[in-house]
Amino acid sequence: MPRRLSAAQVDSYRRDGYVFPVPAFTGAEASEMRRRLEALAAGEGGRLSKRTNQKPHLLLPWLNDLIRHPALLDAVEDVLGPDLLCWASGFFWKPPHDKGFVSWHQDSTYWGLSKPDVTTVWLAFSPSTRASGCMRVVPGTHLLDQVAHRDTFAADNLLSRGQEIEVAVDESKAVDVTLRPGEFSLHHVRIVHGSEPNRSDEPRIGFAIRYLPTDVRQLSGVRDSATLVRGTDAFGNFDLEPRPASDFHPDAVALHAQMLERQTAILYAGAKVKPAYGQSKEIRVS
Ligand code: NI
Repeated sequence: MPRRLSAAQVDSYRRDGYVFPVPAFTGAEASEMRRRLEALAAGEGGRLSKRTNQKPHLLLPWLNDLIRHPALLDAVEDVLGPDLLCWASGFFWKPPHDKGFVSWHQDSTYWGLSKPDVTTVWLAFSPSTRASGCMRVVPGTHLLDQVAHRDTFAADNLLSRGQEIEVAVDESKAVDVTLRPGEFSLHHVRIVHGSEPNRSDEPRIGFAIRYLPTDVRQLSGVRDSATLVRGTDAFGNFDLEPRPASDFHPDAVALHAQMLERQTAILYAGAKVKPAYGQSKEIRVS
């Protein structure tokens, strides 16, 4: 029996590569999280720094609690099993009428991970609609192998390398992943997805959290790290990251800097050259 998803939802994730909406938090709880995030951004000059927005759960206890929240992990366990690592997190934040977009891509492209048993929780902090530039997915494309991507480094592209898929995408088949605040979607690491600019008057804010089972390995040659969020780690493929003691605790800031250095080495491996196996970081707020 699944813990959080229905059997039909698990089936549809396997068949289509995504499932939504999954309710996790009330509108009031989502508003409170958004308030905390906006307060954080206000302290950084109105927008999250690129640095803070990479694995912010290593800097802020409330986000570290969020990546471990049973309302999210029970659904992740339903598709990946009981031993779970959080490998990355970051906000996708499009201000009202922002030009930021996400080109069609597969998340697996530059992540360097040994197999595609990887899923993303995309938790809405504000309404994610067609008008506000919600994520769009092409059903069934998670069954493709890794597809070639080219780096564009386009200015308004929210992906680390502006990578876009090199095959034609049939946009007529794309599905809008619309979410209310407090709801999330799950999407498979290979599914072809993207998003358009925010044409609405409201910010579109989502927290993307990347999860893997503990038997996945990092193939880039860089020793990688992750946070054990459920179960046990019998493999030791990643250095396990501690929970920060307080907001921006000096020990956490120092560790975060080290982890970022490694992640950057992984995500930009082979940039401007042909990427060996894929990957992006896609962890930027605009
Ligand atoms: Ni993506």
